[in-house]
Amino acid sequence: MITVQQLHPLFMGEIGNIDLRQPLDKDTVDALSDGINKHAVLVFHDQFIDDEQQQQFSRNFGDLETTVRAYRRDFVPRLDVHMADISNLDENNRVLPANDRRRLNALGNRLWHSDSSFKRVPARFSLLSARTIPAEGGETQFADMRAAWDAMPDKMKARVEGMICEHTQLYSRGKIGFTDWSEEERVKMAPVPQLMVRTHPGSGRKSIFLSSHAGRIRGMEEPEARMLLLDLTEFATQPQFVYTHVWKVGDLVMWDNRCTMHRAREYDETQVRDLHRTTVSDGRPTVPEELAA
Ligand code: OGA
Ligand code: MN
Repeated sequence: MITVQQLHPLFMGEIGNIDLRQPLDKDTVDALSDGINKHAVLVFHDQFIDDEQQQQFSRNFGDLETTVRAYRRDFVPRLDVHMADISNLDENNRVLPANDRRRLNALGNRLWHSDSSFKRVPARFSLLSARTIPAEGGETQFADMRAAWDAMPDKMKARVEGMICEHTQLYSRGKIGFTDWSEEERVKMAPVPQLMVRTHPGSGRKSIFLSSHAGRIRGMEEPEARMLLLDLTEFATQPQFVYTHVWKVGDLVMWDNRCTMHRAREYDETQVRDLHRTTVSDGRPTVPEELAA
């Protein structure tokens, strides 16, 4: 049987007694599902898995997303289409130069976000496995959006309930001054609607669904929407809601994007940081078709 130890007063479960290289039986998958429903983020240590094993493990929890590839035609991916490349490496495993467009784009991961909230069908789970990590820095922080919701004043809860936000990477990258997109890319990155408040099916808990990709709120002037999103994000990422994961090679962290946000922290980018992510799709949009238009 797996063991679960909570790492933070609100969330974060550390899982022991498991080998993710092996196929898992139903009881173990169920126990992990219960674990993530309760803890929102699961941490596994000493899992020296390859991409194939990571994909197999991830598929226990749903269908995998394919990564947003080539926004540019000449882009050569380093990893399989089911793996998001969370590294500072090029297709030949060399550290990206400081001015490389891929590196500058990836800096957007240092803003609090929920994965793929810029897709009509956003991510359910992300699973991130550490293959090489720098000597210091490069931590990943997680924030519990259920706890943030619970702590919000009733007046604010009533105000934001039912709001529909619009998410696109144009907003998140724009926030750090990254605007180097072709017209074709801009068209592909048209905003998608997402509910601001979601109920988590596995726990029945409500959470605030925020992300750096959110930039508009339906029916609201843009500056007012932006300010509200900034205020909500500041509230939801107060230290009491945040856990900092310090990576070791062999760690795998699995998080629920429906009820957490995360961000990367700075490190010396002359050193290699190589993590591989699989992403389980949530399967359906947060805003049904009839309300989307
Ligand atoms: C991700 C991500 C943060 C990090 O993998 O989705 O945002 O610390 N990673 O690299
Ligand atoms: Mn992310």
